[in-house]
Amino acid sequence: MRKQIAAANWKMNLTLQEGETLLDTILSQIPALGADQQVVFAVAFPYLPMALAKTKGYPNVFIAAQNLANKAAGAYTGEVAASMLASLNVPYVLIGHSERREYYGETNQILAEKTELALANKLKPIFCCGEPLEIREANTQNEFVARQLEESLFHLNADALGQIVIAYEPIWAIGTGKTASSQQADEIQAHIRSVFATKYGASVADSLTILYGGSVNAANAETIFAEPNVDGGLVGGASLKANDFVAIVKALKK
Ligand code: PGA
Repeated sequence: MRKQIAAANWKMNLTLQEGETLLDTILSQIPALGADQQVVFAVAFPYLPMALAKTKGYPNVFIAAQNLANKAAGAYTGEVAASMLASLNVPYVLIGHSERREYYGETNQILAEKTELALANKLKPIFCCGEPLEIREANTQNEFVARQLEESLFHLNADALGQIVIAYEPIWAIGTGKTASSQQADEIQAHIRSVFATKYGASVADSLTILYGGSVNAANAETIFAEPNVDGGLVGGASLKANDFVAIVKALKK
């Protein structure tokens, strides 16, 4: 079975102390996870050592950085390199979140560079894609998302691609309280799988973990995660509330 992941994206929220308390509370309530189930916490850079230390004894719980530089090293003040994250033993990194694309000008080309650097440093990318509202209204989301994936990932070989987790996050559903219906999520995630199948073959595409993100919460997670092409979620707002996130973890497919 494909890996199922409940990933928390804390974004730029919480003080260190609040993050510690939240993590402690969630870890104390987290259910026993199956071999194919993982929980990931994407935390701000300064909190990585704390989060890595706290989750150390939990074999299916992993930490992610929320970003990395598209340069290997050097005079790039304020940036954080893949090799730095690797030196902390951070296993995952978010790449191409729509907030990075929209507010920090991250293009498909820049995201291709980030993906390269992540993989070269043995970090597993959680690569985000998704369309804005006007694209969904024009019903061209399939082409739009395929282009994001082609331009950032199609230069990879099949082995490298196998290291990647995809997160489909329609921008109109992020932080808006408006989720895609579970059918909409499944439909486009099946399309994403077919885009990869065309390039890499069916078995590579079938084994890719594809998460849905965008206003996932304790009440809707189970319905969304039940869809055949949805292998879990990337969760923003609801991941900041311990009870809600624990319920979302429990909603992963068994
Ligand atoms: P949200 O954010 O759950 O608050 O909509 C999801 C995300 O941006 O990853």
